[in-house]
Amino acid sequence: MQNFTFYAPTYFVFGQGKENQTGRYVKRFGGTKVLIHYGGGSCVRSGLLDRIKESLDYEEIPYVLLGGVQPNPRSGLVYKGIEICRKENIDMILAVGGGSTIDSSKAIAAGVLYDGDFWDFYEGKARIKKALPVGTVLTIAAAGSEGSPDSVITKEEGMFKRGATGEALRPRFSILNPELTQTLPPHQTAAGITDIIAHLYERYLTTTEEVEVTDRMIEGLMMAMIHEGPRVIEDPNNYDARANIMWAGMMAHNNSCGVGRRQDWNSHNIEHELSAQYDCAHGAGLAVTMPAVFKYVMHNDVTRFAQVANRVWGCKMDFYHPERTALAGIEALKSFLKSIGMPTTFAELGAKEEDIEKMADVCVNGDGRPGYLSGFVKLDKQDVMNIYRMMI
Ligand code: NZQ
Ligand code: ZN
Repeated sequence: MQNFTFYAPTYFVFGQGKENQTGRYVKRFGGTKVLIHYGGGSCVRSGLLDRIKESLDYEEIPYVLLGGVQPNPRSGLVYKGIEICRKENIDMILAVGGGSTIDSSKAIAAGVLYDGDFWDFYEGKARIKKALPVGTVLTIAAAGSEGSPDSVITKEEGMFKRGATGEALRPRFSILNPELTQTLPPHQTAAGITDIIAHLYERYLTTTEEVEVTDRMIEGLMMAMIHEGPRVIEDPNNYDARANIMWAGMMAHNNSCGVGRRQDWNSHNIEHELSAQYDCAHGAGLAVTMPAVFKYVMHNDVTRFAQVANRVWGCKMDFYHPERTALAGIEALKSFLKSIGMPTTFAELGAKEEDIEKMADVCVNGDGRPGYLSGFVKLDKQDVMNIYRMMI
């Protein structure tokens, strides 16, 4: 295991009705004037936004509203949010929604306290040292942004989708009520489950040896998703399945099961070009990307792929031909994702073969990238093109 530091101070409030206490937590974490940031309107339609406003009114905390965050959030609204916060002397941002809204909130939070262009953080030109405090009311179990120090934004000029990380971005508090996820369309529920599984796989695919504890944590969370995924697709109102998935989404990405080990983020990097270009759900893009990437890189460490196939997917271990076990595991993943309604091909995402070269180029060279992706295996432009072709 490698040396590591781990500091994840988010205060989680989990359970039914907890969003009605939002005002109390805003106050507790020092907010005196809040920007409520939200998406395309699901929280308005469900009445959630009204309940949150009520709880802020109860605590006599003033707020300004900024809705309209798109899935795969864009830089334009971030600039607008920064301007509003400065003008209105906002001292806390409250994200009401999923990964897109939380990430947009984090970008605003860092941008407000920075003299330059907030995009510098996403291009790797500057490091995030401070940010306004962010609180979240989560409405979809997926990205794990409610406990992570990460934010992913798409810059409209060039459609570059890039991530920034900084400990200052970890939410101060996150309110997780699984009931709020019951209004999700099945496609979004399934995309969320896929993203959670991807966050687990990308940590599992390591070149670090002797990481039994985190291996076992990841395997346990994956097995829980394989159990709970079909239950929630069959019955969207199954509170307990929703609750388990919601907490798994946080556990999968706050890095408690990724510490002390090298990680792989190639599937995510390759997928981000798909959701940037075709605006598909990030999880749907991952459902198509993961099996292709895994088949392409599995020869780097067949044993690791055979291990997950055997321990998580229950594939029989073929000691003479471990690559058969490894492949069976990848096929089991693909079938599972299909069974919960995820796409399996490029065309289902609306992706086009003629865009492959450009996407591969942006993926490895665009906006500050060094000409390759590093992770479980180093991948250059030709490798990324080969992987996109495997998805057709
Ligand atoms: O915008 P609204 O109207 O709220 O609708 C959203 C959106 O259309 C809808 N939705 C959310 N909660 C709902 C609901 N609809 C009905 N009922 C509810 N309770 O679902 C759609 C998707 O929302 P979004 O926030 O985009 O989902 P998700 O949480 O999957 O976030 C995806 C984004 O997170 C990034 C992805 O790249 C993508 O941009 N990621 C962020 C990470 C991080 N910050 O740590 C890590 C991830 O790997 C990921 O890259
Ligand atoms: Zn993800």
